[in-house]
Amino acid sequence: MIDGRAAAARLRARLRDLVMEFGPTQDLAPGLAVVQVGDNPASSVYVRGKARATVEVGMKSMEHKLPEDVSESALLALIRRLNDDPAVHGFLVQLPLPARIRPQAVVDAIDPAKDVDGFHPLNVGRLVSGGEGLVPCTPQGCLMLIRDSLDRLAGQEAVVLGRSNIVGKPMAALLLREDCTVTTIHTKSRDLAQHCRRADILVVAAGRAGLVRGDWIKPGAVVIDVGMNRGVDADGKPLLLGDVDFDEAMDVAGAITPVPGGVGPMTIACLLRNTMIAYCRQRGLPAPEI
Ligand code: GUN
Repeated sequence: MIDGRAAAARLRARLRDLVMEFGPTQDLAPGLAVVQVGDNPASSVYVRGKARATVEVGMKSMEHKLPEDVSESALLALIRRLNDDPAVHGFLVQLPLPARIRPQAVVDAIDPAKDVDGFHPLNVGRLVSGGEGLVPCTPQGCLMLIRDSLDRLAGQEAVVLGRSNIVGKPMAALLLREDCTVTTIHTKSRDLAQHCRRADILVVAAGRAGLVRGDWIKPGAVVIDVGMNRGVDADGKPLLLGDVDFDEAMDVAGAITPVPGGVGPMTIACLLRNTMIAYCRQRGLPAPEI
């Protein structure tokens, strides 16, 4: 079982050390701002978790809560302010946004150098075509967990189930950059199970509880479950469920992430990692090995 909480704690400890190292020579601590529109309960949970982790590693956390009925132009004006604020080294606008607001207009307005989500078209382009960008946090976290479990990624068969802009597409691009043989499949693909059975590395981000069964998994494969589905247990208590049937997969996989406690904690740690990378680039500091 891959312990995502422990891996995330190690990454945060490393980031905290770096913040401390810079402390005496830098007048500004790394600053991360999070913008939330309205109060979607799931978003509020994420935003609180991000703020807590940011402070814990010694970075400065800034929160901007805008009302549910804020106009797109007011949100874009805040983004321009954050782009120009030298104390903000990275920021993100929590998704989803109210239907009135065009998410692409919002993402396009963010300074790519401060785009710690890695969603701006320039960062997407750099991920695909090479060069120094910022990489989306969840796929980056998945890659770090895969590297911990596998000595060599080059030549491995990697299957990514899911094609979202946040996880599936950047995950496939990252694995290709690692010289894996990458197949992306999704809900409209034929023979999902057959594709999965070929995978040495299987990343599942389909958004369907228990979709991947034990007999879809190649013996010894590394299985990364990005699913976060809300369910209830036998007593009706709320429960977080992955996209992989964990009990079945556990007997077949070589390494597997649980839900919760797998990918989730790595996403926030990688957001702080991106903030550190953005900070160093903006201040002309040497790129840290993290
Ligand atoms: N909502 C769910 N996941 C994410 C994410 O990675 N970034 C942002 N900004 N919003 C999200």
